[in-house]
Amino acid sequence: MPSSSTPTPSPQDLLYEGKAKCIYRTPDPQVYLCRYKDDATAFNAQKRGSIAGKGEVNCTVSSHLFQYLGQQGIRTHFLAQTGPTEMLVRAVTILPLEVVVRNRSAGSLCRRLGLERGLPIDPPVLEFYYKNDALGDPLVTPDHIRLLKLATPEQVEQLGSLALTINRHLQVFWQTCHLELVDFKLEFGLNPDGAILLADEISPDTCRLWDWSGGQASEPQVLDKDLFRFDLGDPVAGYQEVLQRVLQVVAPAKLSQPQVGPMPIH
Ligand code: TMP
Ligand code: ASP
Repeated sequence: MPSSSTPTPSPQDLLYEGKAKCIYRTPDPQVYLCRYKDDATAFNAQKRGSIAGKGEVNCTVSSHLFQYLGQQGIRTHFLAQTGPTEMLVRAVTILPLEVVVRNRSAGSLCRRLGLERGLPIDPPVLEFYYKNDALGDPLVTPDHIRLLKLATPEQVEQLGSLALTINRHLQVFWQTCHLELVDFKLEFGLNPDGAILLADEISPDTCRLWDWSGGQASEPQVLDKDLFRFDLGDPVAGYQEVLQRVLQVVAPAKLSQPQVGPMPIH
């Protein structure tokens, strides 16, 4: 896929290296290049490994989901997928918050509250986490966010309402892939005029995706990063399965293709 126009990032353009992605400057100060890695971590990087093909799956799935959400009126940082593991994004300032939406109990919700795994949650639960590795990304309330000046109360209100709207759109999308969206994490950024844009990625790293094709009476098949986190099965096969399902859904006319290659930037 890489088009001849794919920018080749040089090490001195590296702005930031995260656990799953590298962000590079481009000749346009309003645009960053985001390169997805196969590296996988869990539990605040206490568990480390690699999932072959993850970078390509997450980049491609994220590209399609950002495009889909854009069509639903959600502003995102996505500009174009320029290669299997690369996308161009708007140069936003990331808010130091992770916004989690939960439609079914799993993960830290069960651990923290002693809840049984797999209980439906309706209406969904909304949570904010402070992005701070040294503190282990703690759960924070809107008052904590105000106290730490991580975002204004108006921004918190907007983030919550955006996350719940995005949840409804993503539930429809994943349902079309015959997957249930159990929960997911979003990150947002501010563009230079202060507008909030959906940023980061939406992928099997950041969503719990369950396949109930064996029936509601049996255990769902897990097709997300929990395969790696909790050694539940083969993460490589799980990620490829998610990609294939997304590609089938976005194939001609069902949901539109992401733009590949250069795209006008406004
Ligand atoms: P949790 O149950 O571990 O709090 O995770 C909730 C959702 O957030 C789940 O879909 C996985 C996602 N997530 C991330 O994307 N990054 C993270 O660092 C963590 C802890 C969770
Ligand atoms: N972001 C987590 C870490 O810090 C990984 C995860 O649970 O998704 O390692």
